[in-house]
Amino acid sequence: MVPLLETIDEVRRAVAAARASGKVVGLVPTMGALHVGHLRLIERCRAEAGLVCVSIFVNPTQFGPNEDFARYPRTLDGDRRLCTEAGADLIFVPDVATMYPGGPDSTFVEVPGLTGILEGASRPGHFRGVATVVLKLFAIFAPDLAVFGAKDFQQQLVIRRLVADLNLPVAIRTVETVRAPDGLALSSRNRYLDPDQRRAATILSKALRLAAGAVAEGERRGDRVRQILRETIESESLARLDYAEVADAETLEPLDELMRGRRAVALLAVWIGTARLIDNAILSE
Ligand code: PAJ
Repeated sequence: MVPLLETIDEVRRAVAAARASGKVVGLVPTMGALHVGHLRLIERCRAEAGLVCVSIFVNPTQFGPNEDFARYPRTLDGDRRLCTEAGADLIFVPDVATMYPGGPDSTFVEVPGLTGILEGASRPGHFRGVATVVLKLFAIFAPDLAVFGAKDFQQQLVIRRLVADLNLPVAIRTVETVRAPDGLALSSRNRYLDPDQRRAATILSKALRLAAGAVAEGERRGDRVRQILRETIESESLARLDYAEVADAETLEPLDELMRGRRAVALLAVWIGTARLIDNAILSE
């Protein structure tokens, strides 16, 4: 079984030993409750790194006061088995005091350009927590590369901006969203869904497919694509829309008009019962 490391010292020793033998160091940050989407990230990391590190830390600072921090699934034994099968070399499982020795608000980092909108608007403080914990993980591991999922589209943009703005020597890789056969994006939060809600949750990928189809057939009006997204979500009685947006895929600026040479992305956040699900799709001509 892949070793579990609880302290920063152990991590630094493992990383230093790998570096001394010329290995590239890769990091896959997670909050655990691992699924096949996470495994793809680990495999992607394995393709480039000689030391593949996974972190599992349910980061309190990225959850709002009324969010699901307390009930977020914690499945370390299963996670460890999956990491072993996927070829990880170590798992870092710090406790809160290790990650936040000065407390959660003592020092933090913000990426204001990208965080006041979409997930950032719906979940105030969320990206401050994400950016801070990822920066800390980068400081602990000093990885050559780190791998993130396109499923959290805004998150990977925030991390890329953080790395660019702070001149961090980390290459960021983004892996495509892994889906269930019926289209639902895999997510640790899918565990909150009962069977009826699980069936209803396919409405997100269906809406994205319809939007992408309309664009492929020539639709250029941002409002029209947003309307397709909205109406599709509204057609499912168990779903409640948080947002449906069509935006520039680099800046997340909302688009009035889709244009050649400017990559666009459709982004959704939808409540199904007590689960808040997000998904997105690149809209290509
Ligand atoms: P978590 O939700 O555990 O996700 C860890 C990584 O897995 C993220 O980069 C996420 O985008 C990716 N991922 C999740 N579901 C995926 C899917 N279906 N296909 C591909 N990749 C997927 O995202 C976080 O944790 C946290 O915010 C974190 C970055 C660890 C900071 O705390």
